[in-house]
Amino acid sequence: MKIFPLAALALAFLLSLTPAPAADSAASLPTEGKSNTVCPISGKPVNPKITIEYEGLTYAFADNACRAKFKAAREASLYHKLGGKAAIDAAVEAFYVKVLADDRVKHFFSDINMTRQRRKQKEFLSAAFGGPIPWTGKDMRKAHANLPGLNETHFNAIAENLKSTLEDLKIKPELIDQVMAIAGSVKDDVLNRPKPGK
Ligand code: HEM
Repeated sequence: MKIFPLAALALAFLLSLTPAPAADSAASLPTEGKSNTVCPISGKPVNPKITIEYEGLTYAFADNACRAKFKAAREASLYHKLGGKAAIDAAVEAFYVKVLADDRVKHFFSDINMTRQRRKQKEFLSAAFGGPIPWTGKDMRKAHANLPGLNETHFNAIAENLKSTLEDLKIKPELIDQVMAIAGSVKDDVLNRPKPGK
């Protein structure tokens, strides 16, 4: 029965979108050639000797337990299983080729800076799939609030393009299912539907 793991994934995803405090989130991320000063797990100052390399960046931690937790989270993540940054960046590029050729939805993007859009989508999906960098952009309601006429048919067309992109890239079906569960979990927000109980 697939429903429980998918629901758990969707919940984990929504929780992962809870923004971290702005000041800490910058200090808890390394930049090229410079490691972070705040532990991304505990929020405490780091011990600069306790580090890990991931995708060319050096992450530092407060203690070994935080380091182990970070490593386990990275290895277990959908992001990692999909192939990390390179794979997700390539998938988003291919996805927008399909979207911009799709008469059902391409008009929504006619005035949009697609360089920025591709970058934002890479960042968003990377965070949503459990990548190391949290999403700090707009929430999905705000991002889609000014798209007149946006409805479920459009959402399903976008989801279909995402799925067929991943199929073209020969991603394993069980991973595609997980991606689609995460995409489905933002549907109500993208369509600005009222929240349950409101
Ligand atoms: C799984 C579903 C979707 C996800 C994950 C998603 C994700 C995103 C993200 C991350 C942004 C950028 C937010 C920012 O600027 O910080 C964005 C903007 C946008 N999305 Fe989506 N989106 C989804 C569905 C859709 C659909 C169904 C449409 C229309 C058919 C759409 C059209 C747009 C447009 C036009 C923008 C740019 C808005 C602007 O810059 O004013 N999106 N989306």
